Amino acid sequence: MTDSAAALVERLTTIVPDFPKPGVLFRDVTPVFADPIAFGRVCEALAAPFAVGAGFAAVAGIEARGFALAGGIAAQHQVGVLTVRKAGKLPGEVLSEQYALEYGEAELELRPGQLEPGTRVLVVDDVLATGGTAAATVTLLERAGYQAIGFAALLELDGLSGRERIEPRLPVTTLGRVPA
Ligand code: PRP
Ligand code: MG
Repeated sequence: MTDSAAALVERLTTIVPDFPKPGVLFRDVTPVFADPIAFGRVCEALAAPFAVGAGFAAVAGIEARGFALAGGIAAQHQVGVLTVRKAGKLPGEVLSEQYALEYGEAELELRPGQLEPGTRVLVVDDVLATGGTAAATVTLLERAGYQAIGFAALLELDGLSGRERIEPRLPVTTLGRVPA
């Protein structure tokens, strides 16, 4: 039998207790990237809901695990990638957006002017938790003049209201829901 993308994510994701700090249950999705069948299939499943109608003309990947997914999806759909990076990594003119993490503050950056204004962009990351990272990314894309048309992630964490935060702005797809 062929495993669905969701089943592959569930089977291959490993749970690492107390990483990166005590008390945190880290979900390591890198085995999904390493598996040649699973990687292609999850990229297809993440993009499928957004490939209908006007579709998307670029994929924005959020550093770091979003880059792998964005590259896979972009190659399948023959579109380009925008890299949304942690502060201080991009040269030249950048747009910056600060956001709250579960614990503390962080900042993401995007180089504007790489695509036409109004370009339809699909946003991807590995995990949706509070939605702060996704929200900051959507804001960056909008500030750059693009249209964020959807957000896709492998997993969403229950009880942190990420979906509730993002869905008023754009549709959300994930391949699994797990306890925070
Ligand atoms: C994790 C995860 C998402 C983000 C989700 O990244 O990879 O990007 O948290 O959390 P949120 O929905 O509450 O914003 P993290 O910031 O830990 O950095 P990393 O991807 O570099 O590991
Ligand atoms: Mg991240």
